[in-house]
Amino acid sequence: MDQFYEKAGSLFVEAYDAFYSTPGPQIAGDVALYDRVAREIGGDILELACGTGRIALSLAEAGLHVTGVDRSEAMLTIARRKLASLPASVQERLTLVNQDMSALNLGRRSASSSCPLAPSSTC
Ligand SMILES: C[S@@+](CC[C@H](N)C(=O)[O-])C[C@H]1O[C@@H](n2cnc3c(N)ncnc32)[C@H](O)[C@@H]1O
Repeated sequence: MDQFYEKAGSLFVEAYDAFYSTPGPQIAGDVALYDRVAREIGGDILELACGTGRIALSLAEAGLHVTGVDRSEAMLTIARRKLASLPASVQERLTLVNQDMSALNLGRRSASSSCPLAPSSTC
């Protein structure tokens, strides 16, 4: 599974992003759920395994401050590409970090964290 996500610019990573850009019924509405929970808790949001930014970008666009962590530079490259096309105010609200969540060290604490769409083997 690691190789699937690791090949920068690979068709697999691009296809993954395209596939999840239009969420199917299994995950429809999950961004709204994370948005609601984050606002109830307050503070900055930490998304573990943020991938290409499907959720992190949406939450930052909605005005929330988000840190997205992923260990795949290939996935983060797509997230950064999408972030670069958004207004500066959104770019300021989202920080993308390449780290393995099992050894996460951001030097600070977050109010809430989530690990969406990740198999139990990764979270
Ligand atoms: C299916 S994607 C989920 C993307 C995003 N959370 C979403 O819901 O759209 C799974 C992601 O988990 C990342 N991942 C897996 N194990 C990880 C780990 N130990 N630390 C950080 N990221 C990890 C992969 O690189 C991949 O980008």
